[in-house]
Amino acid sequence: MNYRTVVSLGEKNVDYLLMKYGDLLVIPHRTGIKRAHVSGLFFGYSQSIRFIFIAFVFYIAGIFVKYYGADKERLFTGVYVIFVGAIGSGVSISQLPSMSKAKAAARQVFGIIEEPTRIDPKQPGQTNIPDGKIELKSLLFRYPSRNTNVLNSLNLTIHPNQSVAIVGHSGSGKSTIASLLLRFYDPTLGQLLVDEVPLKDYSMPYLREKISVVMQEPLLFNESIKNNILFGNATANDQRIREVAVMANALGFIQQNDQDLSSKSVQKNLITAFANALNKPDTTVSQFKQ
Ligand SMILES: Nc1ncnc2c1ncn2[C@@H]1O[C@H](COP(=O)(O)OP(=O)(O)OP(=O)(O)O)[C@@H](O)[C@H]1O
Ligand SMILES: [Mg+2]
Repeated sequence: MNYRTVVSLGEKNVDYLLMKYGDLLVIPHRTGIKRAHVSGLFFGYSQSIRFIFIAFVFYIAGIFVKYYGADKERLFTGVYVIFVGAIGSGVSISQLPSMSKAKAAARQVFGIIEEPTRIDPKQPGQTNIPDGKIELKSLLFRYPSRNTNVLNSLNLTIHPNQSVAIVGHSGSGKSTIASLLLRFYDPTLGQLLVDEVPLKDYSMPYLREKISVVMQEPLLFNESIKNNILFGNATANDQRIREVAVMANALGFIQQNDQDLSSKSVQKNLITAFANALNKPDTTVSQFKQ
């Protein structure tokens, strides 16, 4: 959720959400202060120990020079070596809190990466969708982490070449239908068929290749419009890029804003739409707000 999403919920809700957000920040703020004190303590310790150490070493060296006639040059070399060593260990001690924080964060990230998926993205299966009729039959779906049904006995047939808009209030399950079509999840009950064949029986790479998605909040790389489009198909030539820009009704828009394909900012949804068009999918799932 970003600022624009919050604003789209209406002016009154913005204040409410900001208040809720503020409430949520109270605990992190408190732990942040605690953490700053601890690392400050370590930092102060590492800084002061350095000078205490130097003073102590010079004091001892002075005694050696004065009473035992030690060689000043060699003594200075020795002191210098100890001095550099102390700085190194001081700095590394001050980094201890960051190190343990990084370790904990890495554990979380790798935990997510290594989490086994229930649906194998490389699952083999049927690789033939002749017409592309999509049918949802008495479809019931509930997210594994929740107890309530998001979709309840949903029946829907989408015929080949038909454009369908699914409209509903926020949280009514529109994106969920898209996730089911892409097999991010399998239906809890009921059937999801494409050309009379259960979605489960298709090869996953094939199925996902056949569908293109324009997300509600697409990500664009900080690159030219052209390079962003090329993510759909790296081998497309300039003529093809122009063609899909026309298909996505975007070329006029780009030129009207005094930009060309090598400039950087443009409406995200459109760019993603024609990056997908380049890929020539059979089904496009677009998610637009407002
Ligand atoms: N990954 C998830 N795990 C658990 N619950 C989820 C998950 N994703 C969505 N939900 C819940 O499922 C319900 C339907 O969500 P969904 O995102 O499909 O709604 P939507 O119609 O697309 O809404 P919006 O218009 O805001 O995009 C909501 O109550 C939402 O909180
Ligand atoms: Mg949605």
